[in-house]
Amino acid sequence: MSAGAAAAGARGALDGRVVLVNGAHGGLGKAASLACARDGATVVLLGRKTPKLNRVYDAIARHAEGPLPEPVNLPVDLAGAGPDDYADLARRIEGQLGRLDGLLHCAAEFKGLTPLEHTDPADFARTLHVDLTARWWLTQACLPLLRRAEDAAVVFVVDDPIATAGAYWGAYGLAQSGQAAMVTMLHAELASGAVRVAGLQPGPMRTPLRANAYVEADDARARDPAEYAAACVHLLSAQGADRRGTIWRPAA
Ligand SMILES: NC(=O)c1ccc[n+]([C@@H]2O[C@H](COP(=O)([O-])OP(=O)(O)OC[C@H]3O[C@@H](n4cnc5c(N)ncnc54)[C@H](OP(=O)(O)O)[C@@H]3O)[C@@H](O)[C@H]2O)c1
Repeated sequence: MSAGAAAAGARGALDGRVVLVNGAHGGLGKAASLACARDGATVVLLGRKTPKLNRVYDAIARHAEGPLPEPVNLPVDLAGAGPDDYADLARRIEGQLGRLDGLLHCAAEFKGLTPLEHTDPADFARTLHVDLTARWWLTQACLPLLRRAEDAAVVFVVDDPIATAGAYWGAYGLAQSGQAAMVTMLHAELASGAVRVAGLQPGPMRTPLRANAYVEADDARARDPAEYAAACVHLLSAQGADRRGTIWRPAA
């Protein structure tokens, strides 16, 4: 639904829902946060840098085409947060907003292509943690609240697990294979309940993450991340049931 329609009072696919976007000030995270708000969701913006979060907040709260549901900022560094922090975060969402209907994982660390043998051990552990374990810890903490919704979705945005299992993709690549398995595993465990699990594998996008692997001037395939925002909304909405348990690779 367009923001014009939102302003006119039409119902969006996420009307009345609360959606937590992990990585809300990244390329895809920002585009998805805006798209979710335009489709009626109250968006909880999770990111590690408050000034960047404030810019996304402002883009939603002061949207030119009409009033959108006011978002909530949640500054968290996934590298340092532990299970207690995520439990606290879920309690805060419950206390402030009373519900949670969707969780979209966009945050990811990727420092560049490096041979495994030459990877700094601490960098390896942190990247694997941010890109896999922290996503799971956050999901685990949110599940009780998500379960209370009539229809809820957890969406893991992943990179191509086959391409990133190639040389030099390091812990980022390993985390993509891990997440592909996570979607299958968690879906099998939650398949009979109200919480849907899905993956979203966008094509190449022009973002800081991609720029760490490809020279932007030579990267004609990369698209504006906004082209994948509608796919995020789809998976978070009730219509996303058609992709339950799968990794969706939409065309941009
Ligand atoms: N770009 C592509 O071509 C492409 C292709 C396929 C899949 N994907 C996937 O798309 C998703 C979004 O990536 P993107 O391309 O939008 O990348 P991006 O613009 O670099 O965004 C990644 C976000 O993750 C945040 N982040 C990194 N470490 C963090 C930490 N420790 N705590 C909290 N946040 C942290 C970054 O924060 P800062 O802003 O502070 O750095 C940034 O906001 C990822 O899951 C990626 O694997 C991307």
